[in-house]
Amino acid sequence: MKRLGLLLLTLALGACSPAAAPENPRVAKIHRTQCGRCHSPPEPGKRSRAEVEAAATRHSTRVRLTREEWTAMVDYLAPAAN
Ligand code: HEC
Repeated sequence: MKRLGLLLLTLALGACSPAAAPENPRVAKIHRTQCGRCHSPPEPGKRSRAEVEAAATRHSTRVRLTREEWTAMVDYLAPAAN
């Protein structure tokens, strides 16, 4: 019973923090499958938007993503609040 309470609490907290861990399964999948090929995949929330945007520009010939996918990737790695 104690465990169930903890589980419910975890779920409730998770639902309240979309900004901290952006839910975007499509980007999460690209991140998982593409971004670890040459280096370890950059962790979300560790870099400024400017850093991620600059890196995205340098990556235009390294990883083939559409403009929308890169925009979503920047949002994923550096949520606007950063
Ligand atoms: C084809 C190889 C390759 C792939 C695939 C790749 N990267 Fe990189 N990445 C590099 C190289 C080389 C560097 C170091 C030079 C630089 O910073 O541009 C780098 C550096 C970076 C940096 C800056 C350094 C840092 O740790 O802050 C970020 C951010 C980054 N990559 C993000 C990504 C993301 C997001 C993806 C997936 C969409 C990705 N990379 C996929 C080759 C790759």
